[in-house]
Amino acid sequence: MSTIVPTTIAPEVEAAVAGFMLTQEQMTEVVDRMTKEIKMGLSKDTHSRAVIKCFVSYVQDLPTGKERGKYLALDLGGSNFRVLLVDLKSNTDIEILSKSYVIASSMLSGPGKDLFDFIANCLAEFCKEHNLQGEALPLGFTFSFPLQQQGLTKGILVTWTKGFSCEGVVGKNVVALLQEAIERRGDLKINIVAILNDTVGTLMSCAFTARNCRIGLIVGTGSNACYVEKTVNAECFEGYQTSTKPHMIINAEWGAFGDNGVLDFVRTPYDRMVDKVTPNPGKQTFEKCISGMYMGELVRLVLVDLMAKGKIFVGEKSERIQTQWNFQTSYLSEIESDLPGDFRGCNKVINQLGLVGNNVRDKVHLRYICEAVSSRSAKLCSCGLVTLINKMNINEVAVGIDGSVYRYHPRYHDLLMLHMTKLLRPGIKFELLESDDGSGKGAALIAATAVQSTTK
Ligand code: GLC
Repeated sequence: MSTIVPTTIAPEVEAAVAGFMLTQEQMTEVVDRMTKEIKMGLSKDTHSRAVIKCFVSYVQDLPTGKERGKYLALDLGGSNFRVLLVDLKSNTDIEILSKSYVIASSMLSGPGKDLFDFIANCLAEFCKEHNLQGEALPLGFTFSFPLQQQGLTKGILVTWTKGFSCEGVVGKNVVALLQEAIERRGDLKINIVAILNDTVGTLMSCAFTARNCRIGLIVGTGSNACYVEKTVNAECFEGYQTSTKPHMIINAEWGAFGDNGVLDFVRTPYDRMVDKVTPNPGKQTFEKCISGMYMGELVRLVLVDLMAKGKIFVGEKSERIQTQWNFQTSYLSEIESDLPGDFRGCNKVINQLGLVGNNVRDKVHLRYICEAVSSRSAKLCSCGLVTLINKMNINEVAVGIDGSVYRYHPRYHDLLMLHMTKLLRPGIKFELLESDDGSGKGAALIAATAVQSTTK
């Protein structure tokens, strides 16, 4: 007997998620507002009060495709920490050896010294395992948090994001903190030649093969983008008027867009509830509407609300669903990967949540809620990309993208294509390229360029 799948959505469910359904007009307004904020971030006069900081990365050259050699890379920015050995053999042959280390959750909010000692210990262990102790290889440090850079090897942490809150790091030069931890050990020869954001690594690694790549985007635990700006517009760079190099990669730190209230017109009551339970309330407004750390929690809050009103999973009790952060963002990908009429992914999630879920209509509704949250994420991300493309004023561009949401969500790529096409001026050609380990490869490429320029 085949099940008849209801296609209509109950008015109460529709009403609960209506706020996530952004209209074309709202999206155009988001682009306009973001354009203003980006200009404020770039300009010397307004930078200090701007929410989108547009940090100078000190990376002015895209890869030539001829970078070669062995480099170490560190990647800190999500739930895992990684050490990598990247061997750039040719632009099609890159060998990467890497190891992930789990960061204990207690370390995320503990003393910064412990975090940097942990990083140095992992690095030492990795070098020992691969017999690299005597080599003093150049190292690129992908540090995916807002950094006020003062050079390629000096970056002051402005604020933590994404659940990190280690003490004693904000306001400090992160490269020096790592160097000190390495020196405390006394058994490692390491040459830190660059610190970079993951978006910059992603842009560099895509530009290594795609010549027209001008934007690096991350949609993972957090969300952010960098882009290639004219040096003369990067007013916060001390050499913006005198530099011989025409370009500067700008780390937008777009996650903070809306922290001054300009996005309130697209936020829902659920966004406000999520914000309240984060370690950084009032901060990273745009990121909290988009990225993987928060999407699952948004769906959970809608579900809890509708369950309390007796509109979904009626009569069912699940402690798991009542518990904060228990609805993983990977569940959205699983549920939305089901083909029409198939509920295998959905059933698995329902089961993991401790629900029975015998009612097909509930499953249709659950999917509808997930789609509302993920579509809004992709719409806002499209607004961000269109803002940057318009700002660069170019007719052809490739965007390098990394992050678990983009990688694993079944429709994210297509949604970005759809909404960007609707928002961009006709005739602008763009391509969205999935980056393959941008944080590692990008760090190696920047390290390669840094080493070259110091040995010239
Ligand atoms: C957060 C960080 C940013 C990073 C992004 C993606 O927004 O502040 O630096 O690029 O997450 O990892």
